[in-house]
Parts: sequence; structure tokens; C-alpha cells
Amino acid sequence: MRRPNGMILYKTEAQVALMKEAAVLVSKTLTEVAKVLKAGMTTMQLDKLCNEFVKDHKAIPSFLNYSGYPYTICASVNDVVVHGFPNEVALKDGDIVSIDMGVILNGWHGDHAYTFAIGKIGEDEAKLIQITKESLYKGIEKAIVNNRIGDISYAIQEHTEFKNGYGVVRELVGHGLGKQLHEDPQVPNYGKRGNGPKLKENLVIAIEPMINMGSKDVYTEEDGWTVRTRDGKPSVHFEHDVCIKRNKALILSDYSIIEKAERENINLSASPIIQF
Ligand code: MF3
Ligand code: CO
Repeated sequence: MRRPNGMILYKTEAQVALMKEAAVLVSKTLTEVAKVLKAGMTTMQLDKLCNEFVKDHKAIPSFLNYSGYPYTICASVNDVVVHGFPNEVALKDGDIVSIDMGVILNGWHGDHAYTFAIGKIGEDEAKLIQITKESLYKGIEKAIVNNRIGDISYAIQEHTEFKNGYGVVRELVGHGLGKQLHEDPQVPNYGKRGNGPKLKENLVIAIEPMINMGSKDVYTEEDGWTVRTRDGKPSVHFEHDVCIKRNKALILSDYSIIEKAERENINLSASPIIQF
């Protein structure tokens, strides 16, 4: 989602350092989620945990009240693509849940997401998670000076849609990030190489593939937020905060601590595609 302001803002080194602190606080919060997540928990419990963790770290949950969004996290289970409201429904073995969260720390935004597996998930779901995560890194590889937004977009679409036949959501896109949650430019997960704004050093963007196992078509529920796949098949969402650099993008958020907690939590299936 985004709110354009018509101008691309570049950050100073000092501002990038502050943005890294904000991004890492989100990573740390998602790590707390990864430590406790298991079948039987509700996403409302996770919302409370995240809200308290962020406040304990002198930050503000940025989604809460953003355009009227009523919670700290977006918790999107199975066929919910993004913007799922936390609720009292117990998570169950085989579910996949994307937790998306933002903070404001010292005036700067961090905003990222991770999709978790609850217990033993299906092979198809595991593959969708793996390919979507891989596509995020393929996009990040293109996030360097003198490339264009379309190079990132194409890399994501190529890996997910062209190579694996998944549906790339068109209605929602990644975005610039800074003092605002949504800055220019838009970062679609589909597009043409060589198209779009040229990337310059110290532009910070949130790259966030939202990838459906089936068709790309989605709809928004009556609550005005919850986005679901039309065909009811699952969807996966990963998001990183990334700073454009000359030879290699600087990833501000940190999946390594989330992945470590995921591996150590026996209730989460962090295993690769093939499960015996
Ligand atoms: N990460 C999402 C985005 O960038 C979620 C924000 S929606 C909100 O668009 F309203 F909850 F903030
Ligand atoms: Co975002």
C-alpha cells in the first residue's frame, strides 16, 4: 500500500543508520513472534505481544491508526493476502501466516513482513513460501544504483510468475520508506526491465512480494482492509527494507534472527520443500 507524495527522498548516511535501527526493531519483534508461535495461539495474542514489545523499546507501532487501521500487526492467514485483522481464531497445524508490522523509532519507519508455517504444512505451501522468499532476494539483487524500479519488479515476477506459475498481486505494491510509511516510488512486483524511476544511492524502499499459489486475482472484504485471493488458494508475503547502494543493496531489516528462532521453535516447520 502507498500514499504518494510526488517526490523521491534520498537519505543521508546518518538517516540510513537510524532507519536500520527501526527496521531491526521490527525484525526483533518478529523474532519474538517466531519464538512463541504454535498451533492453538491466536493472532490477537501476537498483536498484543508485538504492541508491548515495540512500546517497551521506545517506539510507536506505525500501522495502528494508519488510515484507521485498528491493530499493531497485519496477520494474514492462508488465503488472506495482506492486511488481515488479528482475531481470536486459533492457528492450526498446516496454516501459513504472514505477520507484517511497522514501527516509528526516533522519527523513522521500519516496515517488514515474514510468512511463518504452523507445524507441518503442505508441500505446495512450503514451495510457495520458499519461492516467494527467493523472489524477494532476486529483487534485492537488482536494487543497485543506475538500475530501475522495473528491474526489481521484473526479477520478482520472473521467478514467481514466469518460472513457477504463481499469481503476482497487482493491486498492492512496495514503496519508498522514511519519515513516512509510504513514500515514492511505488515498487510493483511485476513489470518490465529498464522501466520506471532510476535508482540512486540511499533511496530506501520496502520490497514486498505478495504471491498467490493460484490466480493473481484478489478482493477486499467488507471491513475495508482484509485482502483475500479470489480462488481461495493460499498467498505468501515477505517484505524487507532495503537501501540502494552502488554495488550491492544494503538490507536494513534482518531475517537471520527470525530464521534462527524459527529453526529453534519445534512448532514451526522451517524445513525446506521436501519433508519426510
Ligand atoms: N506493509 C504494508 C504496507 O506497506 C502494510 C501497511 S498497511 C497498514 O503497505 F495500514 F496496516 F499500515
Ligand atoms: Co510495506
